[in-house]
Amino acid sequence: MHSTYLRTTTCGDLTAANINQTISLSGWVARSRDLGGMTFIDLRDRYGITQLVFNMETNAPLCEIARTIGREFVLNIKGIVTERSNKNPNMATGDIEIVVSELNILNTSKLPPFTIEDTTDGGEEMRMKYRYLDLRREPVRKNLQLRHKMAREVRNFMDSMDFIEVETPVLIKSTPEGARDFVVPSRMNQGEFYALPQSPQTFKQLLMVAGFDRYYQIVKCFRDEDLRADRQPEFTQIDCEMAFVEQEDVLVVFEGLVQHLFLAVKGITIEKMPRMTYHHAMTLYGNDKPDIRFGMQFVELTAITQGKGFKVFDEAELVVGICVSGAADYTRKQLDELTDFVKRPQVGATGMIYLRHNTDGTLKSSVDKFFNEDELNKWSAAFDSKPGDLILVLAGTAAKTRKALSELRLEMGNRMNLRDKNTFAPLWVLDFPSFEWNEDSKRWHAMHHPFTSPKPEDIPQLDTETGNVRANAYDLVINGVEIGGGSIRIHNKELQAKIFKILGFSEEDAQAQFGFLMNAFEYGAPPHGGIAFGFDRLVSLFGGSDSIRDYIAFPKNNSGRDVMIDAPSTISEMQLKELAIQLRDK
Ligand code: AMO
Repeated sequence: MHSTYLRTTTCGDLTAANINQTISLSGWVARSRDLGGMTFIDLRDRYGITQLVFNMETNAPLCEIARTIGREFVLNIKGIVTERSNKNPNMATGDIEIVVSELNILNTSKLPPFTIEDTTDGGEEMRMKYRYLDLRREPVRKNLQLRHKMAREVRNFMDSMDFIEVETPVLIKSTPEGARDFVVPSRMNQGEFYALPQSPQTFKQLLMVAGFDRYYQIVKCFRDEDLRADRQPEFTQIDCEMAFVEQEDVLVVFEGLVQHLFLAVKGITIEKMPRMTYHHAMTLYGNDKPDIRFGMQFVELTAITQGKGFKVFDEAELVVGICVSGAADYTRKQLDELTDFVKRPQVGATGMIYLRHNTDGTLKSSVDKFFNEDELNKWSAAFDSKPGDLILVLAGTAAKTRKALSELRLEMGNRMNLRDKNTFAPLWVLDFPSFEWNEDSKRWHAMHHPFTSPKPEDIPQLDTETGNVRANAYDLVINGVEIGGGSIRIHNKELQAKIFKILGFSEEDAQAQFGFLMNAFEYGAPPHGGIAFGFDRLVSLFGGSDSIRDYIAFPKNNSGRDVMIDAPSTISEMQLKELAIQLRDK
């Protein structure tokens, strides 16, 4: 059948092997050059770029038309593949060009507001407003191709392990994952609202009660929280659940998924992943998602530094530091920069103390007035420091100081080039606390979510030592990014009711919010557990970027806006009326 838009090949395909063939192509004009006698047009499609040539001498009328064609016009051409005299080894199609014999302008285009090249002059806001043009750029398109490939490999692996993908509803009732819900007013049930799922948590558990045994879903989740480079209000999870499993079974299966993805997508073999308890992560790295591409583990100095007359240490709950190999030559200026860094409100330290282990073996600290050589030798021994090392120490209340030192450690990791984005260091963090105390609401909150099972051996301490109860909960961390998290669930109605009670739910509240789940547990809930991976984060990690936005076709900006479609937006009086919503006067 004849098609006006026929293309026999794509703009990324033709090589010297096709010389003398008559072909047709369709695509967009990436650039055009009018050299008087000759006009060159680079035609672009999803697959690549091919150079078209129009010659005034051999085909003047066509060349005249070609001269009028602007950037991003849509063309369909027919022509002969010809060897280029001026070859471009950087282009897949750089050996050839097409001598055009027929030209069909399928559409014209306004001049795009930024250049559609690998590196563009368009600012972020402009590129987002015209995202469909930004998506024509190869690096952006490649990011989405990577995403596609990873989704396909997830499905291949999950299918091979007998998981089935089940879709769960999007108009639901609030799921308690700790963030705010996005809500949707119901017209048919005035005054009532659906919530968009923060995750399909309760549904996947119901699927286990239903006997589905192994479920997964690549699924949109919605959370109304402050945005960062690794957070979007709508994002995608690889959400999974399994029945008749213990923690170890879940870890093994999903370690397998991550290993499969690394091998299939990046050709990288990932060895058995190390594991660390939450407690260790906090003591050694001050962080529940440590970047273990590099060492610089925390060493506590409280015992050996107190009682020497240095007030900052004497009054501190914790004195703790890191040893940075090869940084003893840090200048006064660099050390001042670091002090400024730790004093930033986001980092929160009051100051920084250093000890240089000079290359000649001598020790020099910023607190020599209080600590003699013997004392400094004790510091050095605690870190096992070597000549050339720099020890950086912070002091204060324990939690705050650990957090600040964790930031400093990451900063030093960056400065010392120890965080190579092509090195991948996955880690399971285990045994998270079940609960954390919330000062604002003056009650315990679930650290993971309320359906997480405490460790059986800690259940007797639920009432007496609530804060020390550990959960069968685990996170997968890669290069300091929380890629996934999950837990073994409670499948016993009484234990679930008890947890709700600790979390401050009255029986009526618990029944009203989670009655459906507790009731389901009365009909033979199997032991079950699962995990969810942040798919956008996983893709951006594979792609080597910190921003998940680069891997989402149509992302929101930092204020949660889609600047292209201009959402969120007001709705008409009529819609408001139908929904029985009255807006407060501004
Ligand atoms: P959790 O809340 O830990 O667990 O979420 C799982 C993973 O989702 C990713 N993630 C996000 N990614 C982008 N933008 C966001 N706003 C965002 N929030 C979370 C993270 C995180 O590790 N239902 C449980 C899972 C379970 O217990 O099985 C859950 O949602 O990578």
